[in-house]
Amino acid sequence: MYTPTPEDRFTFGLWTVGWQARDPFGDASRAPLDPVESVHRLAELGAYGVTFHDDDLLAVEPDRERAIANFRRALDETGLKVPMATTNLFTHPVFKDGAFTSNDRDVRRYALRKVIRNIDLAAELGATTYVCWGGREGAESEAAKDIRAALDRYKEGMDLLCQYVIDKGYDIRFAIEPKPNEPRGDILLPTIGHALAFINELEHSERVGLNPEVGHEQMAGMNFAHGIAQALWHGKLFHIDLNGQHGPKYDQDLIFGHGDVKNAFFLVDLLEHGGYDGPRHFDYKPLRTEDAADVWDSAAANMRTYLILKEKAAAFRADPEVQEALANSRVTELARPTLEPGETYEDLARDEFDPDKAAERGFHFTRLNQLALEHILGVRG
Ligand code: GCO
Ligand code: MN
Ligand code: MN
Repeated sequence: MYTPTPEDRFTFGLWTVGWQARDPFGDASRAPLDPVESVHRLAELGAYGVTFHDDDLLAVEPDRERAIANFRRALDETGLKVPMATTNLFTHPVFKDGAFTSNDRDVRRYALRKVIRNIDLAAELGATTYVCWGGREGAESEAAKDIRAALDRYKEGMDLLCQYVIDKGYDIRFAIEPKPNEPRGDILLPTIGHALAFINELEHSERVGLNPEVGHEQMAGMNFAHGIAQALWHGKLFHIDLNGQHGPKYDQDLIFGHGDVKNAFFLVDLLEHGGYDGPRHFDYKPLRTEDAADVWDSAAANMRTYLILKEKAAAFRADPEVQEALANSRVTELARPTLEPGETYEDLARDEFDPDKAAERGFHFTRLNQLALEHILGVRG
């Protein structure tokens, strides 16, 4: 029960379990972690795969070739997959004004070279998704950045990277990860909606989708499950970063479910039944208070919580009282087109309808919400 297996397709960033818990106010509270150890530990816990930034591989072995060889060996020994990779375009101070959208053109060219080098490795390791999180693409002052020019450069960068993978024949799609702020005061493409609109303007928009993160949308006050539903509706949910967050504050990157648990419940319900078949990727940070052993408890907690919510969501859907309540609230009626086939707007005039009378009908959503809550709290099903 609740024991993950590779069939569950749980994946973790090397930078999650490997986070040394350095924050703006304090030094690291944990020692660096060898990616080789992370691969073995995650495999033992039942994960399906790992993901990485180019620089994550160098955590304990500064020689790139040797670090890659060690990582490959660990993958071969464990059978862990690498479905996604990404680039660190935020730690080195050269990226202090951004990467693809730095005001400094030389930095923009360096950033693209850094991405291209890691795309080659990602392709060799079998990754099919390449995440672009533009953490430093932004500004603190409206005077400092010409946002329209920055979007031109962002598009130029994405178009060039798409052309690169097409020319190389790589089976790779890009997934943009929105975030409203942190580390920059304001980040470009701050929400799912902004990113979707941007993707529409790209040369190869079919090759670019989203990697939304729970906490990032919640920092912006957005409903994450709704955002994911819209991303699915556009066919743009290429990947997902699961974690937890308590409302609009700094990016907490909590364990999945350790933030807004009701939204997490409906998110799992949606992911399991909404047509998403990609990895369930955790992008969280083990709390700074935790020691080296606690890190693995925290990794396991993400997967266990997901599996518990998956079971609860299935029980919610199967509960006859829930089905009755859904019908009573006319949730299913929304799937019926507003006009019959062949009807036109002229037919609308023939309706006999008393709005005052219709306004008297309640929707009984309280009952539905309470039923969901009781399933989550474990007193039903
Ligand atoms: C964050 C971000 C990052 C990115 C990751 C991929 O928490 O601000 O999620 O963790 O996802 O670095 O580039
Ligand atoms: Mn985050
Ligand atoms: Mn993320």
